[in-house]
Amino acid sequence: MTDKLIIFDTTLRDGEQSPGASMTREEKLRIARQLERMKVDVIEAGFAASSNGDFEAVKAIAAAVKDSTICSLARANDRDISRAAEALAGASRARIHTFIATSELHMEKKLRMTREQVLDQATLAVRFARNLCGDIEFSPEDGYRSDIDFLARVCESVIKEGAGTINIPDTVGYGIPELYGDFIRRLREKVPNSDQAIWSVHCHNDLGMAVANSLAGVKLGGARQIECTINGLGERAGNCSLEEVVMAVRTRRDYFGLDVGIDTSQIVPASKLVSQTTGFVVQPNKAVVGANAFAHASGIHQDGVLKARDTYEIMRAEDVGWAANKIVLGKLSGRNAFKQRLQELGIQLESEAEVNAAFVRFKDLADRKNEIFDEDIIALVMDESVTA
Ligand code: KIV
Ligand code: ZN
Repeated sequence: MTDKLIIFDTTLRDGEQSPGASMTREEKLRIARQLERMKVDVIEAGFAASSNGDFEAVKAIAAAVKDSTICSLARANDRDISRAAEALAGASRARIHTFIATSELHMEKKLRMTREQVLDQATLAVRFARNLCGDIEFSPEDGYRSDIDFLARVCESVIKEGAGTINIPDTVGYGIPELYGDFIRRLREKVPNSDQAIWSVHCHNDLGMAVANSLAGVKLGGARQIECTINGLGERAGNCSLEEVVMAVRTRRDYFGLDVGIDTSQIVPASKLVSQTTGFVVQPNKAVVGANAFAHASGIHQDGVLKARDTYEIMRAEDVGWAANKIVLGKLSGRNAFKQRLQELGIQLESEAEVNAAFVRFKDLADRKNEIFDEDIIALVMDESVTA
């Protein structure tokens, strides 16, 4: 089994399905270029058959982005697949991603199809797609809530037709890490030709477990592709967030033993670009890309970090694209952090007694004010020298 983890970004397709996140062709192109800069392996650029706008966006991205595989989603029918192939014609590496639902609920209530009809349609769709494109991904929508034996039959059949990637979506975010990971493992065991495909996970975040489920799919299930979005953008509660899975696999390489090809220094620029483009604000305490992800406010933590960063940091802010970590001065800050900030501001007080007096003033102010800015400190010290 390969020790490379493929990162498949679907910000421009599943991410855009987030209500209010729709993007123009130019905006999508800008994000796709940033994803390429970040060395994402596969960029799902859109759903070509869904609208002329999406078709044009996929086409433009396929023409402009050369270092990542460009993918278009397509329902399991000839029209959608042909449209995807047409939009992808200019790509240096193209992938068609075709899907059909396999859970009883979706087949009966939504598709109004029998199991055998779904199996046939999936098989024919992959056969048709494989004649148009060398790289085919198949997804059984609502795969995780599907009957595992039926799902195994579908997977076996589409692999026979040439699907190189089998992606098992937890479409409604119903998974629990151990259970989802175990499902992927048991499914692979039931599919006789499973080693002819790369297995992929695609998790939604309805119970806040998209990242944990994806990682379990990798660790317990043996998946080697994760589908994710920048900032976890996506329908309802969103998708698995790229920055979190990538940094989890990288930071805990001791546990996962897998390589990711992502240039992590491009993560924060990508997060900011997606947030500015969609207007979706990133919460301050969001892992990796939130404004507070590398900020220290308590005196004990500040003192520790000033002595040795790894006391309270498991990753470097600079490694994910922040300029530096942050020591936020406030009422919990200690004398050391205060002194350090004076130094950074080029302020040299004459004696320790002066530092102490300024620190007392600082604490008084911090009791009244949430965050202390550099201007506040300069004012404090000036006051100090006036009264001294
Ligand atoms: O969540 C889902 O099931 C999907 C598929 C179309 C892959 O996004
Ligand atoms: Zn999805």
